[in-house]
This record gives sequence, C-alpha cells and structure tokens, in this order.
Amino acid sequence: MFLPSRVTRYALLTGNLTPACQNMLKYVNKIYILILLVSVIGTFLVTALLVNIFERKEEGKNRFVQVVPIGDYESDPAVWGHNFPDEYDTWRKTTENYGSTEFGGSNKRDKLAEDPRLKILYAGYPFSIEYNDERGHGWSIVDVVSIKRLGDKKPGTCFTCKSSDNIRMWHEMGAEKFYLTPMKELVLHAKNPISCLNCHDPKTMELRPANPAFLEAMKERGIDLSSATRQEMRSYVCGQCHVEYYFESKEKPILHFPWKNGLALENIEKYYDDINFHDWTHPDSGAEMIKIQHPDFELWSTGIHARSGVSCADCHMPFKRVGSQKISNHWVRSPLMTVASSCQSCHRWDENELKQRVSIIQRRTRKLMDQSEVAIIDAINTIKTAKDAGVDDASLQEARKLHRRAQIRWDFIGSENGMGFHSPQESVRLLAEAIDFARQAQISAMKAMEKKGKSSLSKFTL
Ligand code: HEC
Ligand code: HEC
Ligand code: HEC
Ligand code: HEC
Repeated sequence: MFLPSRVTRYALLTGNLTPACQNMLKYVNKIYILILLVSVIGTFLVTALLVNIFERKEEGKNRFVQVVPIGDYESDPAVWGHNFPDEYDTWRKTTENYGSTEFGGSNKRDKLAEDPRLKILYAGYPFSIEYNDERGHGWSIVDVVSIKRLGDKKPGTCFTCKSSDNIRMWHEMGAEKFYLTPMKELVLHAKNPISCLNCHDPKTMELRPANPAFLEAMKERGIDLSSATRQEMRSYVCGQCHVEYYFESKEKPILHFPWKNGLALENIEKYYDDINFHDWTHPDSGAEMIKIQHPDFELWSTGIHARSGVSCADCHMPFKRVGSQKISNHWVRSPLMTVASSCQSCHRWDENELKQRVSIIQRRTRKLMDQSEVAIIDAINTIKTAKDAGVDDASLQEARKLHRRAQIRWDFIGSENGMGFHSPQESVRLLAEAIDFARQAQISAMKAMEKKGKSSLSKFTL
C-alpha cells in the first residue's frame, strides 16, 4: 500500500530524474496523500454506520426481551410497562385532556345539554337522565362508576368493556356469573381501566380479543378468529367494545351482539324484530324501542376505508417514532390530533385539506341528524295527540312501528362516535330513511285519527 510513496521518495532522494518528472512525482504524491486521507475518513464513517445499524438491530431485538415476566392475567399496565416503556408511556396519555374537536375530543361533553331534543327522543329510558361523550381509555372505570344512569342497580354486564381485570374474572367465575354480579361488587375486584390485557396475549404480545360476547358473535357469524390476518386483528380488538350490543333480559342481563344476520343496520334490525326485542317503551308514542349503543365497528365496516382494508388502528393508533423505534401510538384518541401520522401515511392532501374533508362529512351528517330529530319528534307528538284523542292501540300500531324504524336509524348514526366519518354514504342513507319513516309514522297516526272522525290536520301545520 505504501509502495507508490516509497518509490517517489526514493526517486526524489536519488535525484535521478528530470525536473519535469520530479514535479510530476511530487504531484502524484500529494494526490496519494489526499486519497489516503479520504479513505481513512471513509473507513471511519462506514464503521460508524455499521456500529449504528448494529446497535439499532440490538435495540430492535431487545424490545421483546422480558425485563419482568408477565403473568397470564396481569391486568396492571405498569407491570407491562417495564418491558414496553414506550407503549406504556403513550397509553398513559389516554387520561390527558387534549380538548375538543368540532364533534369529538376528550372534553367531558354533556350530550343532553348540547342537544335538549335527546330528552324527548330517549324519554322513559335512562339515557335521558345523563349522557356524556366518551373520552380516553384510562378513564373507563372512573366514568362508568360515576354515571348516574341506572344508579346502584347496574349489573356486572355494564362493566364488560371497562377493565383489564375482567379477563381474570371471566376466567375465575365464568362470563355468566360476571354479568349477574352487581357492578358495584365487581368494581371492588378491579383496579385497572382498559389496558394491555384487553388487547394483547401476554405471552406472545399478539393481538387477541377477549370479550366473551365478541367471541360468541364472531363464531355465530362463522368467522374463525384463529385464521384472522394481522390487519383484521387491528380492528377486531376494537370491535370487542365499540359495537352495538344488548342484554338478554332485565332478569338475565347476559351480553350479546346482534350480528347473526350481518353488521348493516337492516341486519341488526331484523335480528331484533325476529326475537321480538325492545329495550324500552316510549312513554309518549307507546312504541317499543331499541337503544343503539356505539356501533363504531359496524358502521366502519360499511365504509370505503374498511373496504380498502384500512383498520381502526391505522387511524387511531398510527406509528410514532421514538428514538430509533417505530411504535404504535397507544394514545388512542381523535385522529384529527394526529393527521400527519394518521392520514398522510396514505393521503397526499395537506393537513388543512384533510381536516376540511372530515369537517364537510361531519357537518353534513349533523345537519341531517337535526332534520331527523325534528321529524321523529313530530311523529312522537302526532302519535301522542292521536292517543290522547282516544284512538285505540290497534289503529296506532303501524305508526308506532314506523317510529321504531325511524329512531333506530337515527340512533345508529347519533350513537356512533365519528359523526358520519367512518362511513359517510351509509350515514346519510340511514338518516334519509329515518326522516322518511318518521314522516310516514306521522301520516299514519293522522290517518288513524281521521278514521276515528277526529280531525288531525287542524292540529298540525304540514
Ligand atoms: C380512516 C380513518 C379512521 C378509521 C379507519 C377509523 N376511524 Fe374512528 N375516527 C376517525 C375520525 C376522523 C374521527 C372523528 C374524530 C373527531 O371528530 O374528532 C373518528 C372518531 C372516532 C371515535 C370518537 C373519537 C372522539 O374524539 O370522540 C371513536 C370512538 C372511533 N373513531 C373509533 C373507531 C373504531 C372502533 C374504528 C374501527 C372499527 C375506527 N374508529 C376506524 C378516523 C378513523
Ligand atoms: C385497545 C387495544 C390495545 C391496548 C389496550 C394496548 N395495545 Fe398494544 N397494540 C395494539 C395494536 C392494535 C397494536 C399494533 C399491532 C400490530 O400492528 O400487529 C399494538 C402493538 C403493541 C406492541 C408492538 C409494537 C408496536 O408498538 O407496534 C407492543 C409492544 C404493545 N402494543 C404493548 C402494549 C402495552 C405495554 C400495553 C399496555 C400499556 C398495550 N400495548 C395496550 C392494541 C392495544
Ligand atoms: C375493553 C373495551 C375497549 C376496547 C378493547 C377498545 N375501546 Fe376504545 N373506548 C372504550 C370505552 C369504554 C371508551 C370510553 C371511556 C370513557 O369515556 O371513560 C373508549 C374510548 C375510545 C375513544 C375516545 C377517546 C377520546 O379521547 O375521546 C377512542 C377514539 C377509542 N376508544 C378508540 C378505540 C380503538 C381504535 C380501539 C382498538 C384499537 C379501542 N378503542 C379499543 C372501550 C374500549
Ligand atoms: C391505510 C391507508 C389510509 C389511511 C391511514 C387513511 N385513508 Fe382515507 N382513504 C384510503 C383509501 C384507500 C380510500 C379510498 C380512496 C379510493 O379508493 O380512491 C380513502 C378514502 C378517503 C376519503 C374519501 C371518502 C369517501 O367517502 O369517498 C376521505 C375523505 C379520507 N379517505 C380521509 C382520510 C382521513 C381524514 C384519514 C385520517 C384520519 C384517512 N383518510 C386515513 C386510505 C387511507
């Protein structure tokens, strides 16, 4: 390697060369030193890069090295946090209040105060007493314990989606006994809100839903969870809780999902009609009603994102860089707070444009919600007027059925958490039908009045 330098030095020392030749050799020597310098620096840089890559690889391996062993029923996220500090840190943020978005966010919003029409629509049902917008997972126990609805009489069933301790309790006492135990007793044995054990297998860290009602419903639909893809699991773990459900009966509050016929509203409605089910009877119209819970999973499944294979976690748990790692952000919240990582991973529109597209969909949905509420309240009032004027139950049966049809559609969209975004066309379709059924209910009640010789038109301006 040192050969050229030695040759030139020798040649220069012996002076056995012409001046031109000597100059050229000096020049070559300078270039040689330059090359030497560059190669030394280059070698240093390449080595540094290799060391860095190696370190990153080691860090990557270390992620799943257990610092502490995690037991099969370990419900405390802090214990999991020893092994997975980054996921734990982001999970802990779910109790942080990041404020409101136009229709969502983590402020504790009082839905009844924001929309007093709900008191008429849910009259006779506990939702007309207290109904708050949801917030982060870390609040799940605090919020279910403090809600006035149902008071002390809440069955264990209400606790199904609220705690990681449930997985242990289902194992120990079986799901049925869990449902039949009063919630205030279960709470004594639970100290952790929704956390790691609700979504992960503690041995492999794979995603796995644990809610017995979800497992039962998927089986009923012939879906084998053991062959579900990773991408499907990234929605299934949410589908354990963010769904429509019902209790078998007041005496036997066993939890079920009405999914046997499919996930669209019509499938769910048929399911309830077939088993002759109702949650309560509306005191003003006399209709037998269904209270829809929060069908985020069902509505999402009818939309363009689900159809394109986009999962709940893609938007609500986007990748986040922590040092050299990419982790799933466990601060599950409104994606409008994380548009860059939640949406721009797929869409090239700028942040403002993306937010506006969401806003356009949500405002359109909200406007149709308003119109549906007005129409349903008109239906309720007309049926009540007919009843008060002495029209018999048989003659009002059709109007009551139509009231139920209208309200289940409106409630499906209103109780869902995305204000239409999860499936924009399906949302406006259902709200359009809600308005149509409500007006049909109103006309049906008016016809019933006319038939009995009671003038209905004079009472209403159409
Ligand atoms: C394509 C992205 C995307 C997908 C996929 C998605 N969501 Fe959403 N989600 C949103 C947006 C946008 C909102 C509206 C947020 C707002 O109004 O602040 C939202 C709202 C919500 C909210 C209410 C949040 C709040 O701040 O009140 C919940 C709960 C929710 N989604 C659950 C789910 C579940 C469960 C799934 C899967 C079944 C899902 N989402 C799939 C984008 C998505
Ligand atoms: C609501 C469900 C849910 C909860 C609760 C949850 N995770 Fe996750 N976790 C996920 C999802 C979804 C992924 C993405 C998995 C995938 O893409 O295969 C994930 C991924 C992970 C990963 C893999 C690396 C990564 O970041 O993508 C680790 C480790 C992890 N979670 C740890 C935890 C810990 C620790 C807790 C409790 C503090 C926790 N998780 C709570 C849903 C959850
Ligand atoms: C074990 C049941 C359970 C699971 C599993 C679950 N959630 Fe939730 N989620 C809830 C409950 C309950 C709340 C409301 C907590 C409250 O308000 O106290 C909630 C709240 C939310 C919110 C509102 C947060 C905010 O800041 O307003 C979003 C968004 C959300 N969940 C999305 C998801 C997604 C996405 C998944 C799957 C990765 C998921 N959830 C899995 C039960 C669950
Ligand atoms: C994993 C990829 C992915 C992510 C993440 C994603 N999208 Fe999409 N989005 C799609 C695909 C695919 C379509 C369908 C577009 C098509 O086929 O032309 C779509 C469609 C849309 C549409 C049109 C909807 C309609 O009804 O026509 C809007 C608006 C949209 N996305 C907004 C968002 C927002 C806002 C977010 C973040 C909260 C988001 N997307 C996150 C892939 C994604």
